[in-house]
Amino acid sequence: MTEKFAYIETFGCQMNERDSEIMGQLLSDDDFAPTEDIYQADVIIVNTCSIRAKAEQKAYSLLGRLKRMKQKNPSLVVAVAGCVAQQDGKKLLKRMPFVDLVIGPQNIYNLPGLIKNLPEKTGKNGNIKVWDRLSPAFEIPPFLPAVDKGSPFKRFVTIMQGCNNYCTYCVVPYTRGREISRKFEDIVHEIEHLANSGIREVTLLGQNVNSYGRDRSGKQHHTFPDLLQAVAGIDGIKRIRFTTSHPKDLSEELMRCFAELDKLCPHFHLPVQSGSNKILKKMNRKYTVESYLDKVRKLKEYRPDIALTTDIIVGFPGETDKDFGATMELLDTVRFHGAFSFKYSDRPHAKSSSLIEKVPEEEKSVRLNQLQARQEEITQERHREYIGSIMEVMVEGESKSAAGQWSGRTTTNHIVNFDSPAILIPGQTAAFSAMVNWCRPSMSGASKS
Ligand code: 5AD
Ligand code: SF4
Repeated sequence: MTEKFAYIETFGCQMNERDSEIMGQLLSDDDFAPTEDIYQADVIIVNTCSIRAKAEQKAYSLLGRLKRMKQKNPSLVVAVAGCVAQQDGKKLLKRMPFVDLVIGPQNIYNLPGLIKNLPEKTGKNGNIKVWDRLSPAFEIPPFLPAVDKGSPFKRFVTIMQGCNNYCTYCVVPYTRGREISRKFEDIVHEIEHLANSGIREVTLLGQNVNSYGRDRSGKQHHTFPDLLQAVAGIDGIKRIRFTTSHPKDLSEELMRCFAELDKLCPHFHLPVQSGSNKILKKMNRKYTVESYLDKVRKLKEYRPDIALTTDIIVGFPGETDKDFGATMELLDTVRFHGAFSFKYSDRPHAKSSSLIEKVPEEEKSVRLNQLQARQEEITQERHREYIGSIMEVMVEGESKSAAGQWSGRTTTNHIVNFDSPAILIPGQTAAFSAMVNWCRPSMSGASKS
């Protein structure tokens, strides 16, 4: 039998990256070897993101290329997964009729079966090409396939899916459904298994991890701090990270974990989105600048060395110069270690799309540039504060950007390059002395999307 290959292109967040790992492993268990060479592939999966218009355009432009590949090689299977698949469903198939399968995030677990039963393959016309069911009764499977490729020492672990917050700009509740927590025991079991196979760092993933542990009716069975404590108790795991958090659900109990659990890395990504209370209200964020700042202050009391990063949207409908000025001011008040910043874009289903006071594109660009320039200065100032200190790095491997050097990550999530006379093993920890220009930029997103 000739070997068959699967190629996966992933756009978007860590949730999507983890879903791609799962799909890759399911396909590999079904005798499709992974390949990095798109031209070698028998199956191509495009795992899409629709968080902003630009992300969606990227997926459609790749699909345009795949159309030409498919014309040359009709037996090639092209599947579209992820958030655009969920959002556009049948519409996607209409626009891109050459696509063989459209699979939303809740439907990836039977991927090999769906590929085997493609209508063309079986000759049956009734077979379905679009799998975009978002079931209110969806449960995350107890055993998600581990990956045998990828990092030998760190993994993403899904703990929740979906979101109930309905921020007015956001498409996620419509692409990933209502919030559901994975079973506590399943998560702990998976991480024990990972630790036994050499994994040293886990990142717990969910759209809003702070509200972990509720069932469909809203009843709280476990809290996120309970879960962190259980994971911290697993031998072999040295570092725990999580993403992403909603400021309104950030409890004092969680803050205390940063003081009490040594394995919990002192880095917190806490998306603020805007520094104007008027805009936060229009975004339906359910916190104010003052309450956000209060939580930041408390977090620093519990863990003074915590590195804070954030997400910011500029040009939300109705954002005036004054509102934007308040966001700029917030940057200087908090002095985030890094910020990912984006121009607001209308999304299907999102409530803010129907707001009429749109900010012109040129104005959004001006604001984004201004914000990113100031944040870059602050990020550099933050970097300089570490000079002279010794930090623990977990070795990633040989540096890709600096020949002869090693690359690693600090607990604060900074990527660093360093010299070592000894051969280092990925996953091992080493002491690192921060000197001038010690950090490779990793914590700010210069996104123009
Ligand atoms: N327009 C611009 N940025 C957005 N984000 C989410 N939705 C939109 C949108 N419609 C940003 C938010 C979020 C990050 C993942 O993407 O800042 O935290
Ligand atoms: Fe993009 Fe959001 Fe979907 Fe992640 S969950 S892939 S960020 S739209």
